[in-house]
Amino acid sequence: MVMSTFSPDRDKHSFVTDIQEIRRRAREHILNGAVTEGYRGDRETVIRVLNEALATEIVCTLRYRRHYFMASGIHAQAVAQEFLQHANEEQGHADLIAERIVQLGGAPDLNPQGLATRSHAEYVEGDSLIDMIKEDLVAERIAIDSYGEIIRYLGANDPTSRRLMEQILATEEEHAEDLRTLLESLGSDGV
Ligand SMILES: [Fe+2]
Ligand SMILES: [Fe+2]
Repeated sequence: MVMSTFSPDRDKHSFVTDIQEIRRRAREHILNGAVTEGYRGDRETVIRVLNEALATEIVCTLRYRRHYFMASGIHAQAVAQEFLQHANEEQGHADLIAERIVQLGGAPDLNPQGLATRSHAEYVEGDSLIDMIKEDLVAERIAIDSYGEIIRYLGANDPTSRRLMEQILATEEEHAEDLRTLLESLGSDGV
């Protein structure tokens, strides 16, 4: 007879069904790193979807950087600083997504070939300061919609990737709000 070392009280609060089995599986596939047999996502699809988000972030980084260097005119200083800050934050998002892809046993797709096709948002240069802000706002709104879909897809199957995308989505919403405020202050109603 096996004596349990758990007190009845402790047992009542334990929700892990078979800790021995979990420990055995953890050892068996140790080279899979963070991906255990308990991972409930469709790994290949999650990696593909995250690679699309990665491409989106890179295209947004490039577009904001271009706008930063090209910003000119009477309001350019403040707007250029906003473009630069967004560019750096999009780069940060790209890095976080790439890290997560590697954790899942995938490879971040950084191939410039096909980058614009993999990205959800577009690379539009824009002619004037107002055009640039409008194009950035459109791109943010595309990211907000498509990241929302990714978050709903991940659901309860990959909470870590979902939390990451939720955190990124919150920043994209701030970006969109920043841009809307800029358009307002520059006297354009965005139409
Ligand atoms: Fe981003
Ligand atoms: Fe953004």
